Amino acid sequence: MNAVETRILELRTELDQHNYRYHVLDEPSIPDAEYDRLFHELKALEEQHPELVTSDSPTQRVGSVALSAFSQVRHEIPMLSLGNAFDETTMREFDRRVTEGLDLPMGDLLGGGAAVEYSCEPKLDGLAVSLLYQDGMLVRGATRGDGTTGEDISVNVRTVRNIPLKLQGSGWPPLLEVRGEVYMSKAGFERLNATQLEAGGKTFANPRNAAAGSLRQLDSRITANRPLEFCCYGIGQVTSDIADTHIGNLKQLKAWGMPISRELKLAHGIDECLDYYRDIGERRDSLPYEIDGVVFKVNSIASQRELGFRAREPRWAIAHKFPASEELTELLDVEFQVGRTGAVTPVARLKPVKVAGVTVANATLHNMDEVARLGLMIGDTVIIRRAGDVIPQVVQVVTERRPDNARPVEVPQQCPVCGSHVERTQLIKRSKGRETVSEGAVYRCVGRLACGAQLKQAIIHFVSRRAMDIEGLGEKSVEQLVDEGLVGSPADLYALTFEQVVDLEGFAELSSRNLLAAIVDSKKPSLARFIYALGIPDVGEETAKVLARSLGSLERVQAALPHVLTYLPDVGLEVAHEIHSFFEDPHNRQVIKDLLRHGLQIQDQGELSAEFSASTTLGGFLDKLHIPSVGPGGAQKLADKFGSLEAVMDADWLDMRQALPEKQANAVREFFAIAANREQALAAEQQLRDFGMHWQSEKKVVEGLPEAGHTWVLTGSLELMSRDVAKDKLESLGAKVAGSVSAKTHCVVAGPGAGSKLTKANELGLKVLDEQAFVEFLTGHGVAL
Ligand code: IVH
Repeated sequence: MNAVETRILELRTELDQHNYRYHVLDEPSIPDAEYDRLFHELKALEEQHPELVTSDSPTQRVGSVALSAFSQVRHEIPMLSLGNAFDETTMREFDRRVTEGLDLPMGDLLGGGAAVEYSCEPKLDGLAVSLLYQDGMLVRGATRGDGTTGEDISVNVRTVRNIPLKLQGSGWPPLLEVRGEVYMSKAGFERLNATQLEAGGKTFANPRNAAAGSLRQLDSRITANRPLEFCCYGIGQVTSDIADTHIGNLKQLKAWGMPISRELKLAHGIDECLDYYRDIGERRDSLPYEIDGVVFKVNSIASQRELGFRAREPRWAIAHKFPASEELTELLDVEFQVGRTGAVTPVARLKPVKVAGVTVANATLHNMDEVARLGLMIGDTVIIRRAGDVIPQVVQVVTERRPDNARPVEVPQQCPVCGSHVERTQLIKRSKGRETVSEGAVYRCVGRLACGAQLKQAIIHFVSRRAMDIEGLGEKSVEQLVDEGLVGSPADLYALTFEQVVDLEGFAELSSRNLLAAIVDSKKPSLARFIYALGIPDVGEETAKVLARSLGSLERVQAALPHVLTYLPDVGLEVAHEIHSFFEDPHNRQVIKDLLRHGLQIQDQGELSAEFSASTTLGGFLDKLHIPSVGPGGAQKLADKFGSLEAVMDADWLDMRQALPEKQANAVREFFAIAANREQALAAEQQLRDFGMHWQSEKKVVEGLPEAGHTWVLTGSLELMSRDVAKDKLESLGAKVAGSVSAKTHCVVAGPGAGSKLTKANELGLKVLDEQAFVEFLTGHGVAL
């Protein structure tokens, strides 16, 4: 063997080992980057020596040319299905039949019966697959088909990352058929649908359909790009027995490199099975994949043989199912709701149906694009899905059942709440300066705060705990205030009188006084809270904090141009435009004016933050203009050559060509030939000057905040302040507050009851403060409690 061959073998063995540790043991021992390096080294060697490529090489998981059809495969041992149980009684009957069938003593009310040992596994919601290994090499993959004949999907299964192309270790039978489920994780499914949507492709209704659609692709290169996973739950054909229990078999398969369920458990007797079912049921929503029940199997292989089969089901196994998460029902109507920002969104009114134990009569339809994508008509029979805590969704129309009198879904021309005009705006996607109008459309009621629905939502948001924090004003009271015409804008809250409040339903003398006191107390919000309370579309608490911290005053936040806003951490062009147009709007300006007139005193730091003011350069500025085909490198070249924005704008062709290649030089000149582009660039530059952020402005000494760049973690309960308050205080010192501990954590504050985070902090040798020490730290930095 020459040196290249040796190295190729070494790399394959090492990569197989890492794959095994990663996919089967869940204990990766090297970082992903190192894995990628080894992988690329192998790939490069194989490209130079194609004669050395073998089908079991880890590089061969990319799929190959499309087939015209799948060929058929006969299952030597049929792939059976399972009997179902939906309740405890059926499960106990199953156990009784097993006990009887094995001639074991039956119990009575006082117990005393034999406890059969069962293996317990989740029932994954994917599709059953058979994998055939000959002398440890994967030679065939097949679908279940009708149980006797399936389809040959060998090329497809080879692309599934955690299916071993060859078995690990030694001692495997010469012929071994492994059976299990190919499925897609919830996260993989979400990612896939998001990419499909973006690419204008078809989305999948659920992870099961996505897994099936991905695996049964004639073009296996498509399969290779889908996040499929495999979990082994049994064996088929085998030349010699492996172990004498089902769990023994699976553990041995795991040692040979097969992924098996982490939830695999042994139960002694039916009661432990029922406990397992309840436990998994409680954790169902937090599992990373979807399951539709659990599977119990008699653990002893000898007992399985004794029990045998009845028709197409084993007598030794059963699926204990959870209530179905998808049901059929009828779409009675589509109504339209108006949200806080005026968006008019369709809601499905359904013929009530029980889904996973809960009666569902409404489902969200998100927007009209979704209605179009589903091809929905009123009167249709639809599939409703309720997974976990999420709001029920319409996932599919059963077109075959469409009645003759089905009606199309139409957006009302007038707002159903206030009667104002409903405006249709094309969705504008801004990417890299090019505005692309995408196909979708948003419908908005133009009524603003004159629309009761928007006004109510705006006020509910304005008074909420994380916004202005006005306690004592619930949704019902807000509705009443609006309906009775007492409040027509958030500013009117500050003009409410005792007489008006005490007349509201549910208010007595004391609660009225308390509410008025809470309103007065809210008059000194921090700038961040105030910005958040305004309810600017896409501006959540974090963005509000960033705006407040960076710009330092309401005047600057109101004036900031989109281009300047994009200098803020995590503010993209899209959000920057939302913020800018919110403050441009005369109606919104009036509300802010009224609030200030009512004596609101916004607490701000007045100054631009040092990190923000130091963040501009001419090169960076030019890059942010997103001139077509000019990237950061080109922008920097322009900056180096011309030294000022004006010089770049007025440069002649020859000078420009000295800085950039022809295509880019043309692009720059074309860009600045458009008056609007020149004006925007100059206005943004002027604003940077006004804010003292211009690259020529004298820089303030960047002496960031004392905790800038430090990540803190809060754990356990705090007694002197809430976690939110502690977080605010730390952030005011420039710290970031994270939810989990890592080696990068600067300090952990641990109150009583701290658990695993504290243990981890101690293991990592991090600095840990108790609440007392934390308070001392804060006061030491001039932060009052
Ligand atoms: S055992 C003879 N175990 O459920 C026993 N099946 O209705 C055959 N499934 O087609 C199946 N998770 O696709 C078994 N842990 C598990 C399973 C499981 C999912 C699927 C499988 C099978 C169907 C049976």
